Amino acid sequence: MHSVAFYHAGMKTWALYSLKGGVGKTAAAVNLAYEAARAGKHVLLWDLDPQGAASWYLGIDDQTELSPKKIVAGKTALGRHVCATTHARLSVLPGNRGYRQWDVRIHEAKSPRKVLEGLIEPFSETYSLMILDCPPGIGPLSTAILRAADRIVVPVVPTPLSLRALDEVRDHVAEKKVGKTRLKPFFSMADRRRRLHRDLLAEPPATMADSAQTFVDYASVIEQMGAHRAPVATYAPRSRATSQYRALYRELA
Ligand SMILES: Nc1ncnc2c1ncn2[C@@H]1O[C@H](COP(=O)(O)OP(=O)(O)O)[C@@H](O)[C@H]1O
Ligand SMILES: [Mg+2]
Repeated sequence: MHSVAFYHAGMKTWALYSLKGGVGKTAAAVNLAYEAARAGKHVLLWDLDPQGAASWYLGIDDQTELSPKKIVAGKTALGRHVCATTHARLSVLPGNRGYRQWDVRIHEAKSPRKVLEGLIEPFSETYSLMILDCPPGIGPLSTAILRAADRIVVPVVPTPLSLRALDEVRDHVAEKKVGKTRLKPFFSMADRRRRLHRDLLAEPPATMADSAQTFVDYASVIEQMGAHRAPVATYAPRSRATSQYRALYRELA
């Protein structure tokens, strides 16, 4: 009998992306990846951030520095750097300090916008969902991400500045004609004790018109991911945070 390889021709790619840092991208990437794996998907989380926080939260201590120059040139067998996690069906391609060079190296590539698509495609043989945890900012890497991902999931803290940052992303998407990309903003770190947050949640501005219905509230149980080095659902399965990430996953899936 021969073994039958998984083949997921329909692998989807979701990117957790924002212009801003500290808005809950990594927390969402890790928890959504966990929820997808729990729901039976074969998930690869590619941690594109040089800080490697998502990898760290998933218990990965691999510090191998990969050079984006070699990766972009197709000289790194990325698949060999995939790490299994302790969670079923959830693997990680860890982030590392070398990733500070992404923008420069992608900028130098022949077709910068297509770099990431080419790197992601081979993983569709093994995985049904790829989640990209992105560093903040707008540059060649983010343009390539916007083009490569089926969904761009944007955490938006309910404040005017965060909403402005979302508008900037929308402008960038329009300007770069990245086409098929679908932006999916969601309210993140929502603190209903704050008047400003409550008002914006009650009456979201037009830029949030196509946002997810699910909010992720500000919750100390999410901050504790650092102490547990695990997705919230594993140590606080009955928390509101767990239900919210689960609902968000279902909305996106
Ligand atoms: N919903 C939340 N409630 C409370 N703290 C959060 C929440 N989401 C993220 N955090 C915390 O805020 C900080 C930034 O979150 P993170 O996911 O790393 O943001 P980003 O990846 O956008 O920089 C981290 O310390 C994280 O634990
Ligand atoms: Mg992050």
